[in-house]
Amino acid sequence: MLKKLEVRTKNETSELAKKIARNLQKGEVIALYGELGTGKTFFTQELCKYLAVKEPVTSPTFVIMNEYAGKFPIRHIDLYRLDSIEEVLELGIPEIFEDCLTIIEWAEKAEELLPENVWKIKIALQNGKREFQIYHFG
Ligand SMILES: Nc1ncnc2c1ncn2[C@@H]1O[C@H](COP(=O)(O)OP(=O)(O)OP(=O)(O)O)[C@@H](O)[C@H]1O
Ligand SMILES: [Mg+2]
Repeated sequence: MLKKLEVRTKNETSELAKKIARNLQKGEVIALYGELGTGKTFFTQELCKYLAVKEPVTSPTFVIMNEYAGKFPIRHIDLYRLDSIEEVLELGIPEIFEDCLTIIEWAEKAEELLPENVWKIKIALQNGKREFQIYHFG
């Protein structure tokens, strides 16, 4: 594990996103884990802000995948509504990882397709506090 930290406010989430954004490169994958409403999309919005995305970043729960232009191309994927690994493969995962930064909500649904150098970020919400666990095997 790289880091475990407690976050109490949106500002603190934003600060964390800023630090991580500095270390990201094209071709990398960020796998987000956490129950409904823990803040996966909000964290993604903040990351995108620090990666120079100008357009609004919205939840891809229904569209499954959004693409943004930033410091490099960014794909924001939400696997919540997918039921099988076949559906995940139909999205083009893992081939599409190559030419962009990929951020995946509900990444456990693509666990076996994630690359070795993936960033795994687990968010747990308890009593209004969020615990972020960050793993990176770069
Ligand atoms: N650090 C934070 N402090 C306070 N509120 C937060 C924080 N992060 C996210 N929120 C709020 O929590 C709510 C849920 O956040 P968000 O939609 O990002 O969750 P999610 O994990 O993406 O949910 P889903 O599983 O439905 O995709 C939003 O109203 C968001 O603004
Ligand atoms: Mg979400």
